[in-house]
Amino acid sequence: MKKPVILLLMITLISVGSIAIINAKANVSNNSSAISMQDDPADAKFPKGAKIYKEKCVACHQTTGMGVPNAFPPLKDADYLFADKKRAVRQVLNGNNTPITVNGATYTIPMPPQVDTHEDAVAVINYVLNAWGNDGGTIKLEDVKDIKIVR
Ligand code: HEC
Repeated sequence: MKKPVILLLMITLISVGSIAIINAKANVSNNSSAISMQDDPADAKFPKGAKIYKEKCVACHQTTGMGVPNAFPPLKDADYLFADKKRAVRQVLNGNNTPITVNGATYTIPMPPQVDTHEDAVAVINYVLNAWGNDGGTIKLEDVKDIKIVR
């Protein structure tokens, strides 16, 4: 008679324990996204760009702007981004499939085109130039009008 009772007790303990772990994990991920997505002043300053970033860029470049090592380059503190704003606008309009070096690391995965208008491209680049504590300035629509959209 004793064995089934102990077995039942063990099963109960294991399932309560795993529910607690699952809850703890959910809390951690909610908190970290709340910090990086809501408290950034760039979200209020560049709302259109922030919206585009969260829809189209976040999967690869992440909520933190840190990217993914060896796959997707960082946009936070990225020397490549700051060096040429117009090139960044071209990157989101037309994508890029040549290897690039960002902060000393080489990235070889191609980036597909992300937006279809110069307005959207400027909005999202001005956002990333100023999100996550970046102080990259801004670029104007008239500076990028001559970029041809290639599909
Ligand atoms: C499918 C994944 C993916 C998505 C989505 C994506 N990128 Fe990228 N991005 C990459 C990869 C990979 C590179 C580097 C590859 C290359 O340029 O050859 C890159 C490079 C960049 C660069 C130049 C490198 C740097 O770190 O400064 C910028 C700027 C950039 N992306 C901005 C954006 C923006 C803004 C969006 C959204 C509108 C976006 N990306 C969406 C994968 C992605």
